[in-house]
Amino acid sequence: MSKVTVVGAGNVGATCANVLAVKDIASEVVLIDIKEGVAEGKAMDIMQTAQLLRFDTVVRGVTNDYSQTANSDVVAITSGIPRKPGMTREELIGTNAKIVKSVVEQVLKYSPNAILIVVSNPMDTLAYLTYKVAGIAKNRVIGMGGALDSSRFKYFLSQKLKVNANEVEGFVIGGHGDTTMIPVARFATYKGMPVSECLSKEEIDEVVKSTMVGGATLTGLLGTSAWMAPGASIASLVDAIINDQRKLIPCSAYLEGEYGYKDIMIGVPCIIGKNGIEKIVELPLKADEKAALDASKEAVAKTTAVLKEIGAL
Ligand code: NAI
Ligand code: 2OP
Repeated sequence: MSKVTVVGAGNVGATCANVLAVKDIASEVVLIDIKEGVAEGKAMDIMQTAQLLRFDTVVRGVTNDYSQTANSDVVAITSGIPRKPGMTREELIGTNAKIVKSVVEQVLKYSPNAILIVVSNPMDTLAYLTYKVAGIAKNRVIGMGGALDSSRFKYFLSQKLKVNANEVEGFVIGGHGDTTMIPVARFATYKGMPVSECLSKEEIDEVVKSTMVGGATLTGLLGTSAWMAPGASIASLVDAIINDQRKLIPCSAYLEGEYGYKDIMIGVPCIIGKNGIEKIVELPLKADEKAALDASKEAVAKTTAVLKEIGAL
């Protein structure tokens, strides 16, 4: 038996609940939102596909009643406003910090042992806020960004290579921002072969660039931020936790000396299992890669410092 709460029944939250159900990842999913009826409606819509798609997960929607989320194993926080075309993720901080803070307090009241996955943007900063407000062990607060950015990286690599995306490996570290994320091309492979053996430097640079603006490109096309891959990325993390898969997934993690950084949350490769972040993996980075991570960390630290300026911490 596993219970998952998804806070925010908007585009990302509802998609996550749908993937959790369709793939039978959790026994019970509670979708919760402040907008009257929205979570109930989306949950009912998902449940009306159960017979068609043959899944057993039960999805329930509730408005604001956190007692219904009690004893969740995992809680994904997607509540908050998304970016509009031309906006950065960082511009959302004022509104979303308030929302995330109040959500974390209510969630922990009923699920004191839950693992929290923070999705709302600016994600690294709001994951840091969550860790500070929650007062729980650092392995139980996970920021979701690297899973999505890595999935976009693999997609663009597969497009350039003209191959099946399932045969491509690669990951993105650093902050979850257009200028802060770092697709680590050196570790990207096709069937175990370094992609540098299959693509030119120019082609790899193009893939890296497309990945970094991947979210902005979709926001431009859709008029709001993307939800399919974000929802599925959260579900993949939930799967790794509930089924103790010990998968290597880049996540925003609270660092206490890893990579030489302290008191910050930023994307690093993590082994994800039943305790949340089981291990932070320290990559053997070359000087230019470490310099890029240092710059990313400075940018994330700057946004994180805003939490104090706006009185959220
Ligand atoms: P959306 O606007 O479709 O949904 C947000 C939902 O949150 C709405 O239904 C709203 O009523 C609800 N909400 C607002 N305040 C709430 C509260 N206090 N309690 C419960 N629910 C509340 O937005 P969308 O597209 O689902 O995006 C959600 C967030 O996720 C945004 O901040 C967006 O930037 C972020 N995001 C993060 C990604 C990542 O990789 N970390 C990827 C995609 C989106
Ligand atoms: C995305 O990357 C905006 O974080 C959101 O799609």
